Amino acid sequence: MDIKSKIRVIEDFPKPGISFKDITTLLLDGNAYKEAIQTCIDQLEGVDYNVIVGPEARGFLMGAPMSVMTGKGFVPIRKPGKLPGETLQHEYELEYGKDVLEVHKDAIKPGDRVLVVDDLLATGGTAKAVCELIEKLGGEVAGLAFLIELNFLNGREVLEGYNVYTVVGYDS
Ligand code: PRP
Ligand code: MG
Repeated sequence: MDIKSKIRVIEDFPKPGISFKDITTLLLDGNAYKEAIQTCIDQLEGVDYNVIVGPEARGFLMGAPMSVMTGKGFVPIRKPGKLPGETLQHEYELEYGKDVLEVHKDAIKPGDRVLVVDDLLATGGTAKAVCELIEKLGGEVAGLAFLIELNFLNGREVLEGYNVYTVVGYDS
């Protein structure tokens, strides 16, 4: 199946000049969604991980099914104020302003081998922030898996030193 053909591209969203990669059309096609998740898992053969971590919101759409299909646990990374237990926060820079992500402190144990998942690798800022949270808690990032990579934003450079796996790439 051509997974890329299931992803809709919407020009000038959320602002002029941005070519938005819309995965809602993929999600709506259950077989395509399942195959995308399976492809994401298959490309990780040989990667040794025991837990999956994904940032809200779209990271849940990848991470939760990958967790169910592999039998590995899932750890949600959330925006501030959503997790009820004791949390660790990480603040990171955006193009304009700052953002904050949180994780439950007891969700990652020292020595855990963590797979970071999200729908999209763009600048790499979100994924890098997730890696920092994991490492502050003593976890090791075994790899990062994304459905989509925007090649022209060079997110891989921000994630240098990590194993990065992506299913479909775009050059614009
Ligand atoms: C999108 C996407 C990734 C992130 C990638 O999330 O789901 O998480 O941007 O961009 P980056 O590589 O430049 O960090 P967004 O923040 O739009 O929120 P959402 O997942 O809640 O829709
Ligand atoms: Mg996201």
